[in-house]
Amino acid sequence: MRKHLLSMHDLTADDVVRILDTAESFREVGTRVIKKVPALRGRTVVNFFLENSTRTRISFELAAKRLSADVINFSAGGSSVAKGESLKDTALTLQAMGADAIVIRHSSSGSPLQLTKWVDAQVLNAGDGTHEHPTQALLDLYTMREKLGRLEGLRVAIVGDVLHSRVARSLSFGLVKMGADVTLVGPPTLIPPEVTAWGVQVSSDIDGVVPKLDVCYMLRVQKERQRLEYFPSVREYARLFGLTRERAAMLPASALIMHPGPMNRGVEIDSEVADLPESVIEEQVTNGIAIRMALLYLMLGGTGTEGETA
Ligand code: CP
Repeated sequence: MRKHLLSMHDLTADDVVRILDTAESFREVGTRVIKKVPALRGRTVVNFFLENSTRTRISFELAAKRLSADVINFSAGGSSVAKGESLKDTALTLQAMGADAIVIRHSSSGSPLQLTKWVDAQVLNAGDGTHEHPTQALLDLYTMREKLGRLEGLRVAIVGDVLHSRVARSLSFGLVKMGADVTLVGPPTLIPPEVTAWGVQVSSDIDGVVPKLDVCYMLRVQKERQRLEYFPSVREYARLFGLTRERAAMLPASALIMHPGPMNRGVEIDSEVADLPESVIEEQVTNGIAIRMALLYLMLGGTGTEGETA
């Protein structure tokens, strides 16, 4: 594996299999009474979150703590970033304090790449602007493989606001790399022109796509980034592209319903659909801890067997 994880393009298909297999052994650690192994004892992981997050921030924190690393959680509020300190000076300060790995979330695409130019620490992208969110894609791949037994040949639709979605980009790249058959579904205004190079299909006919799926992956409508020309109203979007009860009933019986969170219940997904047994949204969150443990372990050269207790 490469030194940094900035994009799904940094990983080969073999790397993805190795990460998912390693996560499999860490998944068991989370079921123990004492959920801790000594693999990264003495190493320092900094969670550098300059954009809001619940799932990714907490799961990276838990992952590093379960590996016995020292963990520093850093956000803009309450730090010198709020006084105007630059990203570079903040990064150099974290470096001077001995960070071995920096996990960064930032609203600007490309910030993790920029960080690699300033620090020696290993950098993991926890979501940058509209660019990528590779650890989300890996936990989604893990969940699909765990539930459906394979990735190759899976028919997956990623539905909604692809234009603004770093999750859609990373997940498309990951699924195509692993041999899945991906269809992006949404209004043409929310499908970026560059998808022609992604190796995916595109459709605006959700009712035609849904009955043929193994996985229906709904994206959050990023209300904060919408302009009127993308779609006339949230209500119309929900009617034309939301996963309603009627549409969910058109899915094959074994199909999974997925969402990266946070959800807009009643917009891209009906509230009762989010809570159906076919919905694996909470399992995605649980699997995220094991995936992030696997990544930190593999990237920081963790020692000892994954199953060894502290
Ligand atoms: N899926 C995801 O990235 O969620 P958070 O923004 O809560 O981290």
